[in-house]
Amino acid sequence: MSCFIQPCPDPHRLVLDNTRLVSPHLCPELSLHLVTEDCPWWRQSPEDLELQGIDEPFWGFAWAGGQALARHLLDSPGLVRGRRILDFGAGCGIVGLAAARAGAARVQAVDIDPVCEVACRLNAQANGLTIETETRDLVGEQVDVDLLVAGDMTYDAGLTARLVRWFRGLAGRGVCVLLGDPGRGFLEPGGLEEVGCYDAPADNDARGLWLRPTRVYRVRPSR
Ligand SMILES: C[S@@+](CC[C@H](N)C(=O)[O-])C[C@H]1O[C@@H](n2cnc3c(N)ncnc32)[C@H](O)[C@@H]1O
Repeated sequence: MSCFIQPCPDPHRLVLDNTRLVSPHLCPELSLHLVTEDCPWWRQSPEDLELQGIDEPFWGFAWAGGQALARHLLDSPGLVRGRRILDFGAGCGIVGLAAARAGAARVQAVDIDPVCEVACRLNAQANGLTIETETRDLVGEQVDVDLLVAGDMTYDAGLTARLVRWFRGLAGRGVCVLLGDPGRGFLEPGGLEEVGCYDAPADNDARGLWLRPTRVYRVRPSR
């Protein structure tokens, strides 16, 4: 997925002009630049945006899986304190920022969408936190971190299959891998240990009116 059909000339302005600084339902301790009900983009479908040359702004939402995983880290700082964290498919950076807030030694936020780097940096700034950002597809590569976190990345059958294979391999090499998934239906239960469950807002619910149980899983290593 590329973010813009034409490269975005000013991603910084794009994020600031199309979002509001708000706290996601499950993480009131963080403020993020998000597309809210009073933003024009709220009423536009991904297809409408594409007609304007804009790919779906995944970075403009704190997805249910990310909110649940972020809450899990904030409530269990022992998982992250002093550790090196990779927020894979970072979007707005909610999970990585929760790790930074909970005391991580280093947080890297990686996404294939270059606008995410800008959104993550603006969101880090808004919270007085520091995270590193990179635009890259890391799937299949070895990573030198203690904990890989992936919020709401299992939203597509093909992507989920690739990710689960990669995550199992990483877990086998000693990386702790945690996923947040609101039951999108692509994750097979085998090889996963449920470590938490949180009521996170459904997609298109900025106010937390339609909550859905959203699970946090630890990936077991492949045998
Ligand atoms: C549903 S959003 C989740 C964002 C964030 N983790 C959250 O929970 O709010 C999925 C994100 O995964 C990113 N993504 C998709 N495939 C990817 C890949 N192969 N490598 C890195 N990021 C990817 C998308 O660009 C998007 O930002």
